[in-house]
Amino acid sequence: MITTVATSPIAGQKPGTSGLRKKTPVFMGRHYLENFVQSLFDVVDCKGKTFVLGGDGRYFNDRAAQVILRMAAANGAARVIVGQGALLSTPAASHLIRLMKTDGGIIMSASHNPGGPNEDFGVKFNMPNGGPAPESVTEAIYARTTSITEYRVAEAQDVDLARLGRQELAGMQVDVVDPVADYATLMESLFDFSAIRAMFAGGFRMRMDSMCAITGPYAVEILEKRLGAAPGTVVNAVPLPDFGGLHPDPNPTWAKALMDELFGPDAPDFGAASDGDGDRNMVVGRGIYVSPSDSLAVLAANAHLAPGYKAGLKGIARSMPTSAAADRVAEALGLHHYETPTGWKFFGNLLDAGRATICGEESFGTGSDHVREKDGLWAILLWLNILAVRKESVAQILREHFHRYGRNYYSRHDFEAIPTDRADAMMAALRGKLSALKGMDYDGLVVSHADDFAYTDPVDGSVSTKQGVRVLFDGGSRAVFRLSGTGTEGATLRLYVERFVTGPDELEEEPQSALAPVIAAAHAIAGIAGFTGRNAPDVVT
Ligand code: G1P
Ligand code: ZN
Repeated sequence: MITTVATSPIAGQKPGTSGLRKKTPVFMGRHYLENFVQSLFDVVDCKGKTFVLGGDGRYFNDRAAQVILRMAAANGAARVIVGQGALLSTPAASHLIRLMKTDGGIIMSASHNPGGPNEDFGVKFNMPNGGPAPESVTEAIYARTTSITEYRVAEAQDVDLARLGRQELAGMQVDVVDPVADYATLMESLFDFSAIRAMFAGGFRMRMDSMCAITGPYAVEILEKRLGAAPGTVVNAVPLPDFGGLHPDPNPTWAKALMDELFGPDAPDFGAASDGDGDRNMVVGRGIYVSPSDSLAVLAANAHLAPGYKAGLKGIARSMPTSAAADRVAEALGLHHYETPTGWKFFGNLLDAGRATICGEESFGTGSDHVREKDGLWAILLWLNILAVRKESVAQILREHFHRYGRNYYSRHDFEAIPTDRADAMMAALRGKLSALKGMDYDGLVVSHADDFAYTDPVDGSVSTKQGVRVLFDGGSRAVFRLSGTGTEGATLRLYVERFVTGPDELEEEPQSALAPVIAAAHAIAGIAGFTGRNAPDVVT
């Protein structure tokens, strides 16, 4: 039986580029999830459609899945393909949407934000191409949430999501599938599993930290079972509703245990971590950290060593604040390179149009045209493939890379929870003096160009303005200033600094000291302390 429930709009259901993210108790509030899901179904039109459904396993994931299924049935969907246990990593969901030629998918996740009864939850919709819904769709969903008066739900028992196979729910087919199998097959088609297997058989040791989040089952199946890595290679391998209290964000701060191990005595050859929903990655060699911007450049330069990319790349894309290290590789390979605004959605058109094969962001996101999301395990496997073919250490590969292409020292400084008016005033003042900056000399760093980054999508011609202030200096150094679009408390100022060197004697410095002159210039240019009262960042990556 289908029930129509009277409801009224709930304020603040505006999805961002990664869907609607709120505190879990908010999501669990009366009509909250239902209103959003009905608005979504009203916009994408559910009748006769097939969707994929899964999430990162955080608290409320299982119950939300049952609600979404009952609502999909009540709204006339023909079929929903669900990951067993309502689990799917974001890249695996993207793959399944494409593989099964569905009409899109619903992913339950708040990415790298902590999970639990008092932490974060989220729901997002992905399109039939496997990528996040564009702004036109998220805006339409939001508009619908402001006028909703009722939602439809089937009165039925829970679907047994532990049991693989087909079930029926109020006339709708529910196919419970292994969340890992198809994704693992895709990875096998891209990478040289026999070379990687031989490397592990030869004694290569790895530590994969899944941070009690979704990549655990994927990493155990692929690394330990299919590639023969030693049992126990994957730690924190069981997804837990609260991620075991961990903050599942793979960076040197939150994946500190992994960093300690890779820099400690008896360190393994290679370390990696992934985030809550499996789209981010961090890689570490024995005694050496690989910054995401450098990782992107190394992956692009060596991708042809993996079977899935042996024909070469069509192009390389990076977000504007990401270092230009990948551009050096593109130039050397004679490839187009693209500089897009922050956010994975800007890569979608380039991937769909076959203009770029590999993309990356400084915020621990790397991926390719195999899906339409960034993909943590994909990046880790491409690294393993490269290590297996080159038979060199991570440190050797990086050193050789810097010698060949030069080194882009790079760091991001985050100033968090700044009062919004002060952050806005600082950015406004900075924007107001861009034309006056050209030619200014900051202790030997001379400004060659300053602008507010704007992007014209080369595929559909759409224009995105005010994407962050870029100050370029003679010689390839750079400072970028932008305010976070995902922060939750006040404003977060992100300062991205970069310095390019080619001299063989300049390649081995500690990044923060190599960048000190650029950091000083950036502070002087923007007057960070004056506007925000902050001299030092809260987080440095
Ligand atoms: C941050 C990252 C950005 C990433 C986004 C979603 O956004 O900087 O690269 O695409 O999270 O994962 P920001 O808070 O900077 O707007
Ligand atoms: Zn994520």
